[in-house]
Amino acid sequence: MTFSIWIMLFHWIFRAESVPNVQYDILSRKTVLIFGGNGLLGSATTERLLRSNFNIVLINRGNWYWDTADTIKPFVRHLKCDRMQSLQRCSGLQHYIWSLDAPPMFDAVIDFSAYHPFEITESLTLLQGKIKRYIYISSDSVYEVCNKTHTGLTREEDAVRPKEDKEREQYILKDDYGNRKLQCEETLRSQVDDVTGVPFVALRLPDVVGARDNTHRWWIYQLWVKLSEYIDKPLSVPQHLWNRPMSLVYANDVAEVIANVITMGPQVNDEAFNLAFNEMPTLVNFLHSIMDALNLDDIDIHVDESVEAFHLFPSVRLGPIDTSKSKKLLNWNPTSWHDVLYETVAFYEDAVRNVTFHSARNDVIRIIQQHLTRDPAKVVRGLWNEYKVMLGGKHDEL
Ligand SMILES: *[C@@H]1O[C@H](CO)[C@@H](O)[C@H](O)[C@H]1NC(C)=O
Ligand SMILES: *[C@@H]1O[C@H](CO)[C@@H](O)[C@H](O)[C@H]1NC(C)=O
Repeated sequence: MTFSIWIMLFHWIFRAESVPNVQYDILSRKTVLIFGGNGLLGSATTERLLRSNFNIVLINRGNWYWDTADTIKPFVRHLKCDRMQSLQRCSGLQHYIWSLDAPPMFDAVIDFSAYHPFEITESLTLLQGKIKRYIYISSDSVYEVCNKTHTGLTREEDAVRPKEDKEREQYILKDDYGNRKLQCEETLRSQVDDVTGVPFVALRLPDVVGARDNTHRWWIYQLWVKLSEYIDKPLSVPQHLWNRPMSLVYANDVAEVIANVITMGPQVNDEAFNLAFNEMPTLVNFLHSIMDALNLDDIDIHVDESVEAFHLFPSVRLGPIDTSKSKKLLNWNPTSWHDVLYETVAFYEDAVRNVTFHSARNDVIRIIQQHLTRDPAKVVRGLWNEYKVMLGGKHDEL
């Protein structure tokens, strides 16, 4: 680049910055603080908010999964903290909060990473007087510790713990994770009427699907289907799940709703919402759909009668959830299962070959080799035959 072009560029940037409208635009940008924000749902949400020009402060342990070091890291203010170690010890965040003038306020906190009530208490304390709305990412597991008294789809108002202490304790033993997620919601609810109370919105999600899933559940099933000839364990579904419909939700649909909830009116305050696809496939349907999307002939699915039968979806026992409240109040309008299926299958097919995703791919292959087969070398052969991807040998990547 010649010197004169540098000068032109300098003038252009300088002029742009000094136009009052641009200044105003910078000041009026919405600001959100995100706990987590680097997993499947968190990264989809962060990317969605970046597209709407949000100003984002991201707080997590600093693991940049998939391609998020390129798509997210450069565009946010990142503060590295481990919430399990207490936010008190997170000096970067403490300094940042103290350095803020009063206001700027955060338009919202979006909390993807609280699994214990103390984590909610700590962030509320630290951010007291600085947040307008607390958006908590909860789970349909909360219903596992509650006394649902009907057989229909689970509704938000079913999240009521049994009254008797003894029964409550028994339900808690059924699902530790669900208990803690509900405790987090209860912590938020308990402070809303305080002078310093913060309104909250709890989003209760079933298993989240989409591209860049760190739980690897979808990818494992997809490779189990695709490489079934090279994997000892036959494709199988537990007997008790054979006819069981399940709720799932698409990460990008949730991201869209979160972007909207940030600016919605007070009618959504202090409410919990179920979010899920309209479709409720069984695990058997799910596997057949993957075969369709991969353009494969039908593969037999075995019934696994053992009590501890291997399965990755669904993670709850209570069955699918009702989303009519979200449709009414949040304009919930999920993408069709068919579209998400084809898009997600295509993503993981490409990801097998993409260098950017090698470490995730190798994790998935390792899980398959360890849990689904006695002949790991055959899986390596399958990858070569089906994808022309070379694993093992001299340049051992595994
Ligand atoms: C569940 O709720 C029903 C109806 O309100 C009640 O009769 C029953 O005792 C409750 N069960 C438990 C375990 O609390
Ligand atoms: C690999 O994935 C990255 C990130 O999604 C993408 O930008 C790139 O185009 C992909 N490469 C190939 C060869 O598909």
